Amino acid sequence: MTYYYKLGNIPHKRHTQFRQPNGSLYHEELMGMRGFSGIQSLLYHLRPPTQIYKILEQTTVDILCEESSPLRHRHLRTGTVEAGKDAIQARIPLLTNADVCISVARPTESMSYWYRFAHGDEVIFIHNGTGVLESQYGIIRYRAGDYLVIPTGVLWRIIPDTNIEQRMLVIEANGHVEPPTRYLNRYGQFLEHAPYNERDIRPPEELVSHDEAGEFEVRVKARDRITSYLYHYHPLDVVGWDGHLYPFALNIEDFEPITGRIHQPPPVHQTFEAPGFVLCSFVPRFFDYHPQAIPAPYNHSNVDSDEVIYYVAGNFMSRKGIEQASITIHPGGIPHGPHPGMYEGSIGKERTEELAVMIDTFHPLQLTKHAIELEDKDYAYSWIA
Ligand SMILES: [Fe+2]
Repeated sequence: MTYYYKLGNIPHKRHTQFRQPNGSLYHEELMGMRGFSGIQSLLYHLRPPTQIYKILEQTTVDILCEESSPLRHRHLRTGTVEAGKDAIQARIPLLTNADVCISVARPTESMSYWYRFAHGDEVIFIHNGTGVLESQYGIIRYRAGDYLVIPTGVLWRIIPDTNIEQRMLVIEANGHVEPPTRYLNRYGQFLEHAPYNERDIRPPEELVSHDEAGEFEVRVKARDRITSYLYHYHPLDVVGWDGHLYPFALNIEDFEPITGRIHQPPPVHQTFEAPGFVLCSFVPRFFDYHPQAIPAPYNHSNVDSDEVIYYVAGNFMSRKGIEQASITIHPGGIPHGPHPGMYEGSIGKERTEELAVMIDTFHPLQLTKHAIELEDKDYAYSWIA
């Protein structure tokens, strides 16, 4: 994140003696991006974070993709995917390329292990549900509408509240997920015109340091496999940390829409950027106020990107036949636009209640075999009047 934060106890000076009540040293761990030149945080552990005593099975992560099919607009109905398992095992990968993997998940159980993704940051959009994201940095209570942004290397697990249905959209980036540079001043602070700012970012709220012996498992996803590491001590033994690198939550309701007299293009909805894609939030807002305005978007040819929209709630202004948790994919190469009647029908409307998350990728996405099973095969022809 863009600002400095700290939790727990840290010494006045970095890399100096910081002692536990029994006189032994706390163990520093620097977690940083881009080899010591990016954002970083310094954590203080009760024990060295390096004490692996066993390395277990290696599960290969093999995502089966559709072999080939004619380029067309696609619609996936993910509303009915099966619920079960924990927040990692429940993931159903749907769309993937070298930059990003997009999955949905409906977990019902807590993770019995901790997890780390080694190749990039993850964004978990909470469509529905509440619970806790626990990490070495402390805990974040999550709720519907939260983007949970988890930097690569963070050790975490999700403990969902089991009395409420959980539904998540998961975006794994091959790189770092950041606020768009144009929202920040040269000091890294959000500018006045940015649609969200520091007050909307929720860093970990409480640090709980565990001093427990036993058997603790950490699963690391790296190089297309998940490897298990066993430790004799609880991995969440941090007593304090400070820096700019930490997981955070941003609720989509705190994204302030930018509106205009005439239709505003998708970049006004941009929330994050990452290598090879951007993430945008479409939120309830007033429509355009030019007396002759057409609020629905115009037809467009996104010639060098694939547009993925995940529909959260409300009535999406330009689409028919879309359900909550539907995903549409409008690939580069063919134009798309509002369904028949939608732009005429939008004239004179004052506001929209739509809530959706868009991911635009700059390299083509492949659909997985799971995605094909959820496909509404008629969607490509749904613009015929
Ligand atoms: Fe579009």
